[in-house]
Amino acid sequence: MNVNGQHFRTIWHHPSNTRVVQIIDQRHLPHEFVIEDLSTVEDVIRAIKEMHVRGAGLIGATAAYGIYLATLQAAKTSSFDHFMEKAQMELLQSRPTAVNLEWAIQQQMEVIAMQNTISNKITAAQKKASEIADQDARHCQAIGEHGRQLIEEISRQKKGDSVNILTHCNAGWLAFVDYGSALAPVYAAHDRGIKVHVWVDETRPRNQGARLTAWELGQHQVPHTVIADNTGGHLMQHALVDLVIVGSDRTTRKGDVANKIGTYLKALAASDNGIPFYVALPSSSIDWSIENGIMEIPIEQREAEEVKFIQGSFDGKIIEVLLTPASSHATNFAFDVTPARLVSGLITERGICQANEKDIMRLFPEKA
Ligand code: MRU
Repeated sequence: MNVNGQHFRTIWHHPSNTRVVQIIDQRHLPHEFVIEDLSTVEDVIRAIKEMHVRGAGLIGATAAYGIYLATLQAAKTSSFDHFMEKAQMELLQSRPTAVNLEWAIQQQMEVIAMQNTISNKITAAQKKASEIADQDARHCQAIGEHGRQLIEEISRQKKGDSVNILTHCNAGWLAFVDYGSALAPVYAAHDRGIKVHVWVDETRPRNQGARLTAWELGQHQVPHTVIADNTGGHLMQHALVDLVIVGSDRTTRKGDVANKIGTYLKALAASDNGIPFYVALPSSSIDWSIENGIMEIPIEQREAEEVKFIQGSFDGKIIEVLLTPASSHATNFAFDVTPARLVSGLITERGICQANEKDIMRLFPEKA
């Protein structure tokens, strides 16, 4: 997608050194556009943990590049396998909820295991990392095309009036390698000249909506309005929302959806007001091994400081200020689970299905 008119992905090889991977350090957005070099698996682990990169698809792609960088480091040690085992374990622990992380690491470890020489292992890991990134972008583009049809249909019903879409957190291109999941249909519709307007939940505590979703929609000239997190229900009661589309960090084979904290409340409000609530996700975010999202999906708990402090720009500098009494305790659950019964449908790279095992298997029969 575009940044000041120039095409960017969220992760790529350094143009003159393939042993270095570059990312957009998202901690600085929307105030500064900073590109960061990652040269070691430790750099990658830090970038994922501290959320220089975030979002399910991008966490997966970054982990895949992390394994490639680890092979370069492992080649210089006395035990390639030992280094790789440790790197894999540490990467796996960097963030627990988005299943794309283990999905990408597992694919990398499998291709590495199939090669006999260290040099072949490095080449295979580099190739696989690029394939995972390309596939993520391709799948998100397809999600955009499938989801666009939902928006087009509402636009027809409204006789061309603007379609109001509410989204939570950031499931745009910044959360993937390109295009995004929840925002891909919005971009595809907008590019076709369909009038759209996006309600952007600010998404406390880290404000990925206010900082990232608003920024990327603005870069693409999509009309949008940032709202405080608690506003969605009111807008729905007053017919100001036509459609909700959110992303997912992990979805079960039965259609329960883990997404950024607060998503469940939006789903409840949408259900109460008869508003379609769709989840857009590539199949790399489906955890085929579990059924019950509430009991089985690990929910990340992050530092209380993210709740107690807020970040913004002041006098051209990014600063953090304390919001709460310094001595108050705070807690920070980063995700919640929306039960399948509240989900109108899943928008995947293979099409749209209902959020139940039978219909998910219709699109992905090889997982039955
Ligand atoms: O904590 P984050 O920013 O990595 O959370 C991920 C998200 O942005 C959302 O949960 C998103 O809707 C799903 S990831 C595409």
